[in-house]
Amino acid sequence: MEEKQRIIELRQMLHEHNRRYYVLNQPSISDYDFDQLMRELQDLEARHPEMADPNSPTQRVGSDINQEFRQVEHRYPMLSLGNTYSQAEVADWYESVSRGLAGEEFEVCCELKYDGLSISLVYEDGRLVRAVTRGDGIRGDDVTANVKTIRSIPLVTSPTPSKGGEQYPPSPTPSKGGEQYPPSPTPSKGGEQYPQPPRSFEIRGEILMPWKEFERLNAEREAAEEQLFANPRNAASGTLKSQKSDVVARRRLDAYLYYLLGEQLPCDGHYENLQAARQWGFKISEGMRKVKTLQQVMDFIDYWDTERKNLPVATDGIVLKVNSLRQQRALGSTAKSPRWAIAYKFKAERACTRLNEVTFQVGRTGAVTPVANMEPVQLAGTTVRRATLNNEDFIRSFDLHIGDYVYVEKGGEIIPKIVGVDLEQRPIVAQPVRFITHCPECGARLVRYEGEAVHYCPNETGCPPQIKGRIEHFISRRAMNIDSLGPETVDDFYRIGLIHNVADLYDIDVQQINGDGSREKSAQRIVNGIEASKRVPFERVVYALGIRFVGETSAKLLARHFKTMDALMNASLADLQEVEGIGEVMAKSIVGFFHNEANLEIVHRLRQYGLQMALTEEQLSTSSDKLAGKSIVISGVFAHHSRDEYKALIEQHGGKNVGSISGKTSFILAGDNMGPSKLQKAEKLGIPIMSEDDFLQLIS
Ligand code: IVH
Repeated sequence: MEEKQRIIELRQMLHEHNRRYYVLNQPSISDYDFDQLMRELQDLEARHPEMADPNSPTQRVGSDINQEFRQVEHRYPMLSLGNTYSQAEVADWYESVSRGLAGEEFEVCCELKYDGLSISLVYEDGRLVRAVTRGDGIRGDDVTANVKTIRSIPLVTSPTPSKGGEQYPPSPTPSKGGEQYPPSPTPSKGGEQYPQPPRSFEIRGEILMPWKEFERLNAEREAAEEQLFANPRNAASGTLKSQKSDVVARRRLDAYLYYLLGEQLPCDGHYENLQAARQWGFKISEGMRKVKTLQQVMDFIDYWDTERKNLPVATDGIVLKVNSLRQQRALGSTAKSPRWAIAYKFKAERACTRLNEVTFQVGRTGAVTPVANMEPVQLAGTTVRRATLNNEDFIRSFDLHIGDYVYVEKGGEIIPKIVGVDLEQRPIVAQPVRFITHCPECGARLVRYEGEAVHYCPNETGCPPQIKGRIEHFISRRAMNIDSLGPETVDDFYRIGLIHNVADLYDIDVQQINGDGSREKSAQRIVNGIEASKRVPFERVVYALGIRFVGETSAKLLARHFKTMDALMNASLADLQEVEGIGEVMAKSIVGFFHNEANLEIVHRLRQYGLQMALTEEQLSTSSDKLAGKSIVISGVFAHHSRDEYKALIEQHGGKNVGSISGKTSFILAGDNMGPSKLQKAEKLGIPIMSEDDFLQLIS
């Protein structure tokens, strides 16, 4: 078959498999086969750049190009919903709708209120053209590139079945995740006609991070000593606003759609429109129901009040909508929200219990967190004993006293929160909670940096949790990658006095670990792993030192700029700040690190053990500052190197590879078939275009 034809075929197949997997939960091929098809498509697309398509299934992997979000005006403003917190208020709303419609009968569509962030998706001619966040309701951020990585959002709409044809998809769609609220509309037995999508429409919904993914991500962040997300909504929002779409692609976001807008919608019923949208490939909740009485509305609320806990994603209420679009128009909106819809918010579960004691935990970075220890109390199915008090300001804001009765809530968060104090129950003799002045682990005097809410223990080299934390960072995969050691072993070794810092690792021998002779094999493996780390390249050694604020990227910049550990150690504040990408805070932290005697001693020992303390000859011979300060866009197809190789070359020579052309672009490295729109933009802004050969000449 002709390759171009195959590209088209593969794209269709992969779109459909994606839909089966992510929207219907009914995969029909194995992950392996899916990957094979995807790879075949990637290869073919690489060979036919003229067939590039931003909506190809291959575009879901995202890119690490930094993007700034463009602001876009919504075609229809994104209103919010009026909130109610009691069934009595729901009844009032129902009454007011009835009055507004002069007693005419109406149906209500009952839906779950998903707790994520709202998104507007615009489709033209069956293709996703734009995804915009709510923003201020009038304009939002264009996050199309990120949204394209979400597998349950179709990049192209699915064709609906033709008359008399086979039913598509097989009905009924089995629901997963417990959304089985009766009475379920009887699914039709085939032959049902679904309207085609209009040429242009908008569909709105909620982007969510499923609980499972949220837990996985937080576990990963905890291991990497990164701040945890408080709830799936924050995690989803942080992810969607990420500047790099490959980060978004790695975190598995999901999306439920609940509102179709456009000039030519297929039906007058909101519910019916969404059923059609499900056939076009959108993920529409199976829990949605259309009802005719207030009693049925209440039953729906009661059912989901408990059943929602079995859902794979977070929900915080119920949304009720008058079903007929004609009636919706008749009811209209206020400036903020429509009169035809309302949200009923579930009550966060709350308990009241006594605060017995406040203890203080020292984290791996030295941050000190106060923890409330309370009289055990039952809350949302678990016993709660402890809750974080965050920091000193938090404690002050409640004027917390030991012996106070505190209200604890479990809302969307999995960790319980203290939300208030019952002052009436405060014992007369109660003493206010005082923040400690000295580290509970090592006794050092705590510091609180200006403008920060957190207290730190400054004794980086003498405070046990910080020492262990630093060793764990040192051995981690992206640093020295000593995978024969884990946090528990580090803990054991530290406890028995075998190691006090990262340099001690290189002194360990098999005998010491294999004390009673029963652990010969694992002892050997550990020692081999440590030995192998001596070959880890210089930039990762810089990262492994665990200098505060120096992440992987900065470590690379520093290594490339200073080339040797000696040069880095002797760099002044001004020298450091000259390096593109190194700011004042980091520069100060680096200088401070190398002014500390204990750190100098460690680096000195690491050098003696044979770790890489400079760039290798090869790295040196292929790196320079020739492109320092230059922003370079790569475009087109190349003969001598791949795009990734050019990207690496740009970085090796001090330049920056950027994704899109702007006034700040220094030049475009152009291969064959540079895109016409890029060419036009470059010409308009007067950006020079450099050929592959000229570029190689320049850096040679
Ligand atoms: S309808 C004009 N339906 O709740 C009506 N919203 O406070 C537009 N939400 O911004 C919204 N689940 O982010 C609707 N089933 C649902 C919803 C839902 C969650 C969110 C949405 C909206 C907010 C309203």
